[in-house]
Parts: sequence; structure tokens; C-alpha cells
Amino acid sequence: MALRKIRYWGDPVLTKVCRPVDKVTDKIRSLVEDMFDTMYDAFGVGLAAPQVGVLKRIVVIDTGLEEPDPHVLINPEIIETSEETQTGPEGCLSVPGKNGDVTRPMRVKVKAYDLDMNEFILEGAGLLARAICHECEHLDGKLYVSKVEGELRDNPTEPEEEEEEI
Ligand code: NI
Repeated sequence: MALRKIRYWGDPVLTKVCRPVDKVTDKIRSLVEDMFDTMYDAFGVGLAAPQVGVLKRIVVIDTGLEEPDPHVLINPEIIETSEETQTGPEGCLSVPGKNGDVTRPMRVKVKAYDLDMNEFILEGAGLLARAICHECEHLDGKLYVSKVEGELRDNPTEPEEEEEEI
């Protein structure tokens, strides 16, 4: 397991447009493994390569609740979005401790390549749709903070465990 250093809001690397991947090398395979390790370690549901300082069009997502549901998207391209939208709190590992309301499509369809450079289509609804949109924007140097409706809030502090037990 190898963790990479997460880049934070204000780091110019997060504002750059990433380059497409043309070949999956061993270096890219270990980058993807490290991205999953880094994302899970930080309790995130998505991470884009520029967030660990690599300007390549690679995203990892896992919005699974009970069971893991890992996805690797190489050169992702959103090809369909629903008219129906969802508005809710969103956060980012590059903007720790904050969240804000963002409107996203309820459903999206994304075309991407897997680690064998086979093309596939992933359909996502709800949180997965939100994560796909959020992560794809990282690849174009955009952070969700520019889309927040209202104020960027501080995350609530974790309640004591006994307080949750009623
Ligand atoms: Ni993010």
C-alpha cells in the first residue's frame, strides 16, 4: 500500500487541464493502485490523478456503501446527462473539512477506458453520478467550490459515539 500526497486547493496543479492516457504502463497501474489506497485512507469516494500531482486523465471512484464498488476511468468523457437534477452537499479531498451544495444531473453516462484500454460505458445515478461529474471536472482543472450555491460550510465535527446510540 502506497499513499500519495494529496494536493490542496491553492496548488496550481489543480487548475491544469490533464493529458489523455495513450498507453497503460506499469507506472500507470501503480499510480491507479496508489490512488485507490490514498482515496480509501482519506475516506473519499473519488480521486482524480491531478489531486496527487499527476496531470493525466485518470479517475478512481468508489461510492459503494456496504460493499466496495471500485471504478477506474481512463480518459473519461460524459456522453449523457439527465435533465433531472440533484442538489446536495459535496466535498473534495483537496478541500478538506468543507462542503457546499452543488446541483448535478441525477443520472450520467460516461464513456471511458479500463486498465486494458478497453472502452466501456458506466451509468451512474445519485452519488455515483455526482462523483463522476466532480472527478471529470478535476481533469479540466476545475474544483467544485466554483459551483457551490450559497456558502462553503465547515464539516460538522464527528459526534461522540455514545451520542449516536439512542
Ligand atoms: Ni475533488
